[in-house]
Amino acid sequence: MRQAEPPEKTGLSDALRKLDQWFNVTDQDLRGIAGRFHQAMLDGLAGAKGPLKMLPSFLNTPSGLEKGSFLAVDFGGTNVRILLVELRGNGQFNILKRKSLPLKDPAAGYDFTLATATGGELFDFLAGQIKEIAVPGEVYALGHTFSFPSRSYDINNAVLINWTKEIKTGQVEGRDINQLLAEALKRQGSPEVIPAAVINDTVGTLLAAAYSDPGADIGSICGTGHNTCYLEPSPPLGRGPMIINLESGNFDRLSFNVFDQRLDQASEKPGQQRLEKMVSGRYLGELTRLVVSDLVRQGLLLGGKHPDWDGPLHKPYSIGTEQVALALSDDSPGLAHLAAWLEEFMGVKDPLPWELAALRHLASLVATRSARLIAATYLGVLKRLDPYLKDRHTIAIDGSLYEKMPGFERGVRSALDGVLGEGGSRVALKLTKEGSGIGAAIAAAMASQ
Ligand code: GLC
Repeated sequence: MRQAEPPEKTGLSDALRKLDQWFNVTDQDLRGIAGRFHQAMLDGLAGAKGPLKMLPSFLNTPSGLEKGSFLAVDFGGTNVRILLVELRGNGQFNILKRKSLPLKDPAAGYDFTLATATGGELFDFLAGQIKEIAVPGEVYALGHTFSFPSRSYDINNAVLINWTKEIKTGQVEGRDINQLLAEALKRQGSPEVIPAAVINDTVGTLLAAAYSDPGADIGSICGTGHNTCYLEPSPPLGRGPMIINLESGNFDRLSFNVFDQRLDQASEKPGQQRLEKMVSGRYLGELTRLVVSDLVRQGLLLGGKHPDWDGPLHKPYSIGTEQVALALSDDSPGLAHLAAWLEEFMGVKDPLPWELAALRHLASLVATRSARLIAATYLGVLKRLDPYLKDRHTIAIDGSLYEKMPGFERGVRSALDGVLGEGGSRVALKLTKEGSGIGAAIAAAMASQ
């Protein structure tokens, strides 16, 4: 049995106080980040080099009257969804059919995400699955949500700038992805399925919300990745209001602590997607792990060198965002669920009550900072859209982090209200589930008009 030395004596309390400071984002910080984010938006709009790509979508928001049946492909990661959506007008829709397909399945012997696979093979696979959902003989316009940094030249083309999210398929970067899809559909014998629009998932989320809410003018994903788009009133292309994809995960005018630096340095693309690495579901578990393992190595937590140095705690990405959520949702007496997970994960049988409390506190620091940083970027966008908040705005948000992380929505809300005061009541946050798929169907409808 380990000695139950109180945290004040071991130095754990001091270490936690330091971490509180490192992860804290004050209201003053929020204002500063919002200002820098706003400036980066202006830089991007003016074509200057900067962290925000400000990619045009060639789409305004929908009227809500768009009607018809459309195929939608939601390609956001290694799992692709195909939907058949009926838009009924008046902001109403039905999902008639849906199918989810993994791009890799070791049991079935395929992996289209590897560098050795080609875009042709990947899109042939997709096209074959789309064919199974389409009713033979019917002609469909297809909307494609492709959630990777891509540059569009009109509503129906998007050239992949670079893959993210661990996908490495060959011969896709630098190519027009809807052309790849259209060619594959022809090869697979589905010429009656016609790709009509290609959009980012943030744009899909905004379109889905705006279909029934004219006040929706910001769309955001808080899931494995993080990004935001908004309806720019005067885009540089001079065509009237247009939705712009910020690719805000790449924002970097932020202060980083030592754990952010470590995570970035050990990541696949150091220096890129710095905001995403501080806030998104892909990284929150790893950030928490880095903090916890640092305390364990210092001998301040979980008995110091026990368990062994090479144990699971010291393996990169061995803690996921689900465990962060578990720590925050554990309302059992004595944090029994967290204790059970610790035992299963790293064989710790005798965590002390304040060690469990410290773990939960660390999870909360990381998750709260994420919510507040994201809120700061929304404040930056609002500054561009409506600096005096004369109008109502809806921020449409989709993603597992926003939906499932305990306290996340509250964290974003309270950060916004802390800075906006009364004005906060003019900004609504709206969970928009499946927005990226439904939005693809809406984009196809808008393109076909
Ligand atoms: C990544 C992608 C971005 C996408 C976001 C959410 O940041 O670069 O395009 O919107 O993930 O899926």
